[in-house]
Amino acid sequence: MENAKLTLNGQEYEFPVIVGSESEIGIDFTSLRAKTKAIAFDPGYGNTGSCESAITYIDGEQGILRYRGYPIEQIAALASFTEVCYLLIYGHLPQHDQLREFERQITHHTLIHEDMKKALDAYPSTAHPMAILAAMVISLSGYYHEADDADTINLNIIRLLAKMPTIAAFSYKHSMGHPYIYPRNDLSYTANFLNMMFNLPTMDYHVPDVLERALNLLLILHADHEQNCSTSTVRMVGSSRAGLFASIGSGVCALWGPLHGGANQEVIEMLEMIRDDGGNYRKYVDMAKDKNSDFRLMGFGHRVYRNFDPRARILKTSADEVLDALGVDDPLLDIAKNLEAVALEDPYFVERKLYPNVDFYSGIIYRAMGIPTNMFTVMFAIGRLPGWIAQWKEMRQDKHTRIARPRQIYTGEQERPFVPIFQR
Ligand code: CMC
Repeated sequence: MENAKLTLNGQEYEFPVIVGSESEIGIDFTSLRAKTKAIAFDPGYGNTGSCESAITYIDGEQGILRYRGYPIEQIAALASFTEVCYLLIYGHLPQHDQLREFERQITHHTLIHEDMKKALDAYPSTAHPMAILAAMVISLSGYYHEADDADTINLNIIRLLAKMPTIAAFSYKHSMGHPYIYPRNDLSYTANFLNMMFNLPTMDYHVPDVLERALNLLLILHADHEQNCSTSTVRMVGSSRAGLFASIGSGVCALWGPLHGGANQEVIEMLEMIRDDGGNYRKYVDMAKDKNSDFRLMGFGHRVYRNFDPRARILKTSADEVLDALGVDDPLLDIAKNLEAVALEDPYFVERKLYPNVDFYSGIIYRAMGIPTNMFTVMFAIGRLPGWIAQWKEMRQDKHTRIARPRQIYTGEQERPFVPIFQR
């Protein structure tokens, strides 16, 4: 493809064009400042490609999402979460023995160091589990040696995949004042997590299949989403050569925000507010449109999807199935469907291409599964972990990676003399 041409102050400059494997086009502006003294101004990075990546492909106009080339609909219907972890991190689908070995390794690293429990115990029971999760993930670097060789990195990847559900479930048990339930090696990744969440020493709890299947689906749908806010954070922190645990811990923090992973908690709180306010969802649609109000329809809109979010479509169907199978009749699901129907017809939402995103229905499923609302974003983090890891690994192996260091347009005062305090 021909070079792109830019005219600035009457002078023409040429920049190479990069074409991705799905014919995506990028203009390589790495030499922009050196050639022109200008920078590319793009707040929120809506048009900025920060890397080349072979992990996840999204076409926001068509509602396409693929992990390593495989359509999300097929993966969601046919894969297990650990298989997806392997695919994202190692780049190909595992053979039977590879998957067995991968799962065996994860299973044998699920315990956290007993000393870590003391740190966890020190948190107030009211602490948000995302605060505990972020702190504990970064703390792993204090317990497990980090180095740049492939074997150590791989061992720490396994450790992280194995220990994150344990930390998450322990943070829940801590908030309840219940004893920790230790991981069990005879259970699958998802069943083990649910057992640590819901079992008690006084109970004979068996994880229902329907919960295990629902969790498998939810985790798969969250597993990666290319250069979103938390993943870009992981890459950005990692670009300074910070270790895996510190980089992923930073990703957990970025995910927490209500415009990102924190939206799933906000959706349920919004639906509860509508229910408690008599179920008048039209009022809330109007509020979301009102520019004098800060209110947004949580679970609506997406930077990349401009038609539909394929994950939300899968989850809408799954919400009906899971609630049916569990015998749960949740009025919030009806409110959500009504809200969606009204918003999808409303010119405000249509013109701005605002559709339900992955967070819109996921919370309803988590709620039906008995997961408390403040754990929803933690669930997102467990799902997104393999994506963060894969992206961190890819970034570290990419010879072109430079420390992430955006520029700015300075709008402050020009140079002026400093006035000593006794003269002011
Ligand atoms: N409700 C009402 N108006 C909205 C909404 C919403 N949920 N989302 C966007 N808009 C409006 C916004 O006010 C703006 O209007 P105008 O052009 O008149 O100023 C226009 O739509 C474009 O919005 P934006 O904020 O420029 O879009 P963005 O790409 O920067 O933000 C978003 C994307 C997801 C942060 C945003 O749509 C939003 O805040 N949604 C609600 C929070 C949410 O559900 N987040 C989860 C995202 S999916 C999971 C994940 O990846 O984290």
